[in-house]
Amino acid sequence: MSLLTDEPLGPRVTVRAPAKINLYLGVAALAADGFHPLTTVFQAVGLYDDVTVSEATEWSLRVVGDPRLDLDAVPTDDSNIALRAARRLLAHHGMEHRAAAMTIHKSIPVAGGMAGGSADAAAALVAVDRALDLQTSDDDLLAIAAELGSDVPFSLLGGTAVGRGRGEQLEDLEDAGGWWWVVVESDEGLSTPAVYRAFDELHAQQGTEPDPHALELPTTLVEGLVNAQVDLVGVTLWNDLQEPALHLRPDLRRTLEDAGSCGRGAVLSGSGPTVLVLCASREEADAAREKLAGLGHERVTAVPAPVAGVHVVEHA
Ligand code: C5P
Repeated sequence: MSLLTDEPLGPRVTVRAPAKINLYLGVAALAADGFHPLTTVFQAVGLYDDVTVSEATEWSLRVVGDPRLDLDAVPTDDSNIALRAARRLLAHHGMEHRAAAMTIHKSIPVAGGMAGGSADAAAALVAVDRALDLQTSDDDLLAIAAELGSDVPFSLLGGTAVGRGRGEQLEDLEDAGGWWWVVVESDEGLSTPAVYRAFDELHAQQGTEPDPHALELPTTLVEGLVNAQVDLVGVTLWNDLQEPALHLRPDLRRTLEDAGSCGRGAVLSGSGPTVLVLCASREEADAAREKLAGLGHERVTAVPAPVAGVHVVEHA
């Protein structure tokens, strides 16, 4: 008797997860655990990856999506973070014998500083939980998410939040909403560990210490978010990884200059290389997108924020 390995053993569940941006990213000196303590303001934006899962007799993974993305850079072996998330969740339930067929449909830039891998891991956790009816508690999902990566818990929650520790300790932040961002993608990704290393090396070369106030949440940003003051938020955008990313990718300086010529403020997204422009309305974002396209930037999208975290979009 032969088993058809691609025959689903249960329902097919598709879960959608948003990209994240950092409106503030303050980074302290490297700690003994190999991570940098940070304070960040996360916002989930309307750019999504979908993860589809059904129970199967063996593990499989397919990565599909926008052909302009560098899909070849996404691993399809056991090192893929969504697959690791799925296996980790089954291990948590003592169900290592079960397996799933998984498809990741990507729209979030790969290695773009928008937590695309974390979004896939968060979506995979919820998709596997629902497809295999594991009934994992929210607290357990969040704890497993934090083990998988610093940004995975926020991908689960979405909205707007302050992140501390490695970014995994979250606190909701009041946000009046209605923001629009223009996302300027880059042809080539940047490695997060490499950007953090450049942060350390630049300080070592310059004989400086990271800003001792980096872990303080800027009150002007909190005020701007609560009161929907787009110009206040725009001037407060800050990312301590911007200089190290520019050191590795000097071409991004021009992107940031072009981005700064439209909207209310421009900043590097996470560890880059994606660049963000804050706009006051959808119309302003559309105008900024056109201007940036005219300046030769090829992959430019306007997205709303904040948006919800992971959610089920299909259960068949
Ligand atoms: O947690 P995540 O897997 O996203 O982190 C990737 C790498 O980025 C870590 O291994 C570490 O080198 C670096 N990192 C860091 N400090 C943080 C988050 C990440 O140094 N707060």
